[in-house]
Amino acid sequence: MNTRFPDNFLWGGAVAANQVEGAHQQGGKGLSTSDLQPNGIFGGRVERVPGDAGIKDVAIDFYHRFPEDIKLFAEMGFTVLRTSIAWTRIFPQGDEQSPNEEGLAFYDRLFDEMAKYQITPLVTLSHYEMPVGLVEQYGGWGSRTTIDCFERYARAVFSRYQHKVKHWLTFNEINMSLHAPYTGVGLAEESSEAEIYQAIHHQLVASARAVKACHQIVKDGQIGNMLLGGLLYPLSCRPADVMETLQQNREWLFFGDVQVRGYYPAYMRRFFADRNITLEVSEQDKQDLQHTIDYISFSYYMTGCVTTNEEENQKARGNILSMVPNPHLASSDWGWQIDPEGLRILMNMLYDRYQKPLFIVENGLGAKDKVEADGSIQDDYRIQYLNDHLVQVREAIEDGVEVMGYTCWGPIDLVSASKAEFSKRYGFIYVDRDDQGNGTLARSRKQSFYWYQQVIRSHGESLK
Ligand code: BG6
Repeated sequence: MNTRFPDNFLWGGAVAANQVEGAHQQGGKGLSTSDLQPNGIFGGRVERVPGDAGIKDVAIDFYHRFPEDIKLFAEMGFTVLRTSIAWTRIFPQGDEQSPNEEGLAFYDRLFDEMAKYQITPLVTLSHYEMPVGLVEQYGGWGSRTTIDCFERYARAVFSRYQHKVKHWLTFNEINMSLHAPYTGVGLAEESSEAEIYQAIHHQLVASARAVKACHQIVKDGQIGNMLLGGLLYPLSCRPADVMETLQQNREWLFFGDVQVRGYYPAYMRRFFADRNITLEVSEQDKQDLQHTIDYISFSYYMTGCVTTNEEENQKARGNILSMVPNPHLASSDWGWQIDPEGLRILMNMLYDRYQKPLFIVENGLGAKDKVEADGSIQDDYRIQYLNDHLVQVREAIEDGVEVMGYTCWGPIDLVSASKAEFSKRYGFIYVDRDDQGNGTLARSRKQSFYWYQQVIRSHGESLK
């Protein structure tokens, strides 16, 4: 077997604006839904609970420290860095007619810094955040007005960065809205399924309109979607479990099906009918949806199981995705089951289904790190996790899957999305900050930093 990854394979890491930048009210930035998390919507208004640590207000202060961080990424040999643009830096309230120049200038500086080291930017238009203004004024993605505002934002950034950014993504983990409607579509958590699917429809139309705009504006540009690759296995080989697994996998694959094929798959007709959901879909929407993506990107952290056994299901409720644990797999400290082979299975499944190039844009292990007396951090557990997953990526490439690259999640420690905490660390680079917001924000290299550097330098040949 060939142990070397293809020469044009892109190696790097992925971050998101709201989890690294901080400076949440600088440069004319408006408040985003993420700035207010882990709080929520109270009586229709989004509010921050007084007294929270305000951990994202500063995050890792990437807004000011990015030159130092990009230099460290370059030292590891990154050829790609995935980040997102904070919509609220460009359109602070969301519904302005023209963009905020200071916000645009910030990303110019960031992309220029990356260019110094020949690091290719991979940019997500919306990573788990939207302007609070759009939530309060229009009800988030529940409203069609938000589609127009998003398209204006997408066109503004495509025009501005067309010569600097050629690789784009529309919405981060677009299928997560089913489980976290506030994070995904700016709706209250208690919204009905019908409301959530209507908002999702609007987001799918917006995604397709962004694809159209990208193809019009960015010469040689490529734009992909972004799915949470939530692969599910049947817990048993009982046909009822297998059927239920098929249905539950379709619940997330549905997003990819629309974004790749340009129309709703047939199975959703029955899905909506069984739930008494009638979507409002215009003729224009149907035409817009025909603008399909160029490649599939996805995150991969874990797999889970499905069963029709109610007792087993009860036990699983309370996990964010309500997945039933797999008895054959170990878990991380946060209960995420570790399944390297699942990545190979998922990649083959996505490639068989779509025949489009894949980009793994998130993968990694959130863990607590210990700083030794000499300042070093021996994170061999992280090395093991990433090594084992990359070996499976190599297998998938050998299987014939077309893969553009790999950006592991959080190459530098950052604020966690689900818990807004710091102690869940993913980085090769340690950041001195704790869950209460104490620390100097100083950066230091972990053991995994040198490991990843070697992996990139050897085009994967150093993997074991
Ligand atoms: C993905 C998100 O769900 O997983 C990231 O796109 C997130 O934003 C990552 O940070 C890991 O999740 P967490 O909750 O450990 O930060």
